[in-house]
Amino acid sequence: MTRYAMITGASSGLGLALAEALARRGRNLILVARHRETLEPIALELAQRFGVEVLLRACDLSQPLRLSGFVLELEEGERRIDLLANCAGQRTYGPFLAHEWADEQDLLEVNILALSRLCHAIGNLMAVQGGGQILNVAGLAAAAPGPGMATYAASKAYVMHFSEALREELKPAGIKVSVLCPGPVRSSRRRIPRLEGNSRCLSPEEVALYTVRALAKNRAVIMPVRRNRWLAFAPRLLPRWLTRKLAGFIHRRYCPVGME
Ligand SMILES: NC(=O)c1ccc[n+]([C@@H]2O[C@H](COP(=O)([O-])OP(=O)(O)OC[C@H]3O[C@@H](n4cnc5c(N)ncnc54)[C@H](OP(=O)(O)O)[C@@H]3O)[C@@H](O)[C@H]2O)c1
Repeated sequence: MTRYAMITGASSGLGLALAEALARRGRNLILVARHRETLEPIALELAQRFGVEVLLRACDLSQPLRLSGFVLELEEGERRIDLLANCAGQRTYGPFLAHEWADEQDLLEVNILALSRLCHAIGNLMAVQGGGQILNVAGLAAAAPGPGMATYAASKAYVMHFSEALREELKPAGIKVSVLCPGPVRSSRRRIPRLEGNSRCLSPEEVALYTVRALAKNRAVIMPVRRNRWLAFAPRLLPRWLTRKLAGFIHRRYCPVGME
């Protein structure tokens, strides 16, 4: 049976770079994002350049009914997915009360619920198949409360804890779970001039290459930039009040970059 790596958020940024890095290594792909017209040229190009099979599925992961339909398709389908990469993510920046609730809800649906639902559905399929690998994308924002991006940081803290818990829980089923904390990435959709040339800010391609190698070694927590590791670790050593204050200071100073 043909095996596939399924990548959500494959239309841009990290998800796209990961799709290319995997195709380069001969992996067949299922690409997921909201719009078929964005995915089609990507699928065509990857299939032509690397001679792999590339399927695509347009699905708005913030819509629970559409997600349910997609999950049902995966459960009833014959395709064997041996790698799930949950890269799709949404962000909101700025004061929580100033945001439209719909935007916050979409973020929570995509970053938390859709990611968990796909881990549940595909995790069960992998358990029946005798194993597989799951990659969830968190971020340095997971390390501390994120004033100025409260729901985003909290959603990434969820992804971090959830992924680490699943890693232990799913080991006996032969399912390897890793979580990626890329640090700030020069994403195609969000160019941050201040970070161009900053050694802590990698391109999506650099992060993808590091990630593919780390997945091959079954790393639990994948942090491509060594210097970012203390940022993730420091809040564990500090009292919570100090972490909160420092997080507030950093986010006020560096918003919208923050501690992603
Ligand atoms: N960029 C950074 O600095 C950074 C740092 C740390 C962590 N991260 C995390 O890394 C992941 C990728 O980030 P990125 O910067 O590469 O993002 P990006 O370029 O903005 O891409 C986000 C991807 O998610 C998809 N997506 C968004 N909402 C969706 C929805 N409702 N349904 C289906 N797909 C949806 C987008 O597809 P369509 O819009 O085409 O549907 C796109 O493919 C995210 O989880 C992000 O939080 C990013």
